[in-house]
Amino acid sequence: MCGIIGCVGRGDETLDTLVHGLSKLEYRGYDSAGVAMASGGVDLCKTAGKIEDLRDALSSVSLSGSVGIGHTRWSTHGPPTNANAHPHQDCTGDVAVVHNGIIENYQSLRDELVSAGHTFTSDTDTEVVPHLIEDELADGTAPEAAVRSAISRLEGSYAIAAVIAGTEAVFAARHDSPLVLGLTEGATFLASDVPAFRDFTDQVIYLDDGEFARLDADGWAVSTLDGSPVEKEVNVVEWDPEETGKSGYDHYMLKEIHEQPRALRQCLRGRVDEMAGTVDIEDLGDLSPTGVQFVACGTSYHAALYGAQLFREAGIPAQAFLASEYATAVPPIGDALVVGVTQSGETADTLSALREARKRGARTMAVTNVVGSTAARECDHAFYIRAGPEIGVAASKTFSTQLAALNLLMLGMTNEEGAREVIAALRELPGNVQRILDESNAEAVAETYRDADSYFFIGRGYQFPVALEGALKMKEITYKHAEGFASGELKHGPLALVTENTPVFAVVTGDGEQARKTVGNVKEVEARDAPVVAITDGQSDVGRYADHVLELPETHPRAAAVLANTHLQLLSYHTAALLGRNIDKPRNLAKSVTVE
Ligand code: M6R
Repeated sequence: MCGIIGCVGRGDETLDTLVHGLSKLEYRGYDSAGVAMASGGVDLCKTAGKIEDLRDALSSVSLSGSVGIGHTRWSTHGPPTNANAHPHQDCTGDVAVVHNGIIENYQSLRDELVSAGHTFTSDTDTEVVPHLIEDELADGTAPEAAVRSAISRLEGSYAIAAVIAGTEAVFAARHDSPLVLGLTEGATFLASDVPAFRDFTDQVIYLDDGEFARLDADGWAVSTLDGSPVEKEVNVVEWDPEETGKSGYDHYMLKEIHEQPRALRQCLRGRVDEMAGTVDIEDLGDLSPTGVQFVACGTSYHAALYGAQLFREAGIPAQAFLASEYATAVPPIGDALVVGVTQSGETADTLSALREARKRGARTMAVTNVVGSTAARECDHAFYIRAGPEIGVAASKTFSTQLAALNLLMLGMTNEEGAREVIAALRELPGNVQRILDESNAEAVAETYRDADSYFFIGRGYQFPVALEGALKMKEITYKHAEGFASGELKHGPLALVTENTPVFAVVTGDGEQARKTVGNVKEVEARDAPVVAITDGQSDVGRYADHVLELPETHPRAAAVLANTHLQLLSYHTAALLGRNIDKPRNLAKSVTVE
């Protein structure tokens, strides 16, 4: 996810402070970076690539001033190029803006500004902001009021910082994207995350949604966007600068598990109309395939299994293939669409399967997290899950957002009956995931079974891929043996492995036929003395046969899959933590697997 830094009052050290802050935000993932400094005018330097590339670019230009903003960009609108890197400017060059988030109404604002004679130089949604500020300034509005007025026209999510020529201040506002102020004698900072300025201060103020901040060398002021002053509490950061990057969490994985509500909101934003019961994926063009084939690996394969089931339920033939096996599988049939599900967009097996599909004449699509990734560039279509960068090797928030995105894709391509219920459940998902994060007793369950020989996970229908994913997560970060099964398969062999030292985690939602059958399978393992942990919404009587229950709220079975998985993520995480494993970088594994 993008990173913002702003700074006022560090005199000649302002530029170095900005670049240092950006380097502290690198963990968020980014593909371009830039800075802008304001004095009588605004000087700017930005480039695609890493902070080192920015340092190189800065060595051949001269930027002056003691007021500045900087940005690391993780592409959403437009590829990672110099032109799309932030900061963005207006036509006069007197305004510079950095932004995190997605401005949903940018197209209509851009059309309006272009008709009024503004010239745009990037593909980004952000660029509308400096031009809106420019118009306000041209009308004689004072700088601060001009920024407020421009921001009040935005819909979507944003953390924004702006500087204006001749004004010794940084202006900032947030809605659904974090911003925090850092305070010292004589200098004030602003950033997406504390690590950016933690080397200078431990005094911070967290901005809330709808708030606007003005930073001057001698102080700061926070107000609502329409100008009412807001009293803010100054917090003291407890952790040392060395712990930067994890926002206070012990591991990136735990941080990313906790980021799921926000990631899911970001995934859904601007794509669903709850009132109309529709999903808008029009930017993908006209997609009405006769069949869908998914290709993917690992966690993404589990999402693909879930996706294939979604399409089959909507009446479109669909299958999920392990990408590494695809070449030997059936060729694309008729007008099938081949969909690569891949967080990174760089997984060699998945790229190879997509290339094979194209060779056989299929249309292809990447469902991915990374704009500008190879899969996104090579496929005919790209659909972004918008989870934000994931640093822990174990996929967590990207699995949840893959499931949400696949629902959107299916609903956008079909006229499935019951779309309204699914959309309502998707809208409730971020809040329900938050509830599980707040209330889950997975840590206590992890403690109980930390010495188990083996862990088994079972589920049916949408909960089958969740069982597979629960087992993958467990083996990946704890190094313990774990297997996921379709509930009905246990009795066809794996039941021989079941003992009193092999806990069975059963995902059971609803009270229909599938739930009743899985409860039957649970009784089979209980009769063989295996401890049972039920992950359930309590609609069936599985709790009667369970030693522990991880509770879910009642919801649509498709949404329940994401909720059940959240408990299982926490279970694996806490088991691995108790065992002292290297959770973010498990042995032998890489985040992006670029060999076949
Ligand atoms: O980037 P991709 O989604 O294509 O990666 C595929 C797998 O390597 C990946 O999902 C892997 O299984 C996870 N990191 C496991 O947590």
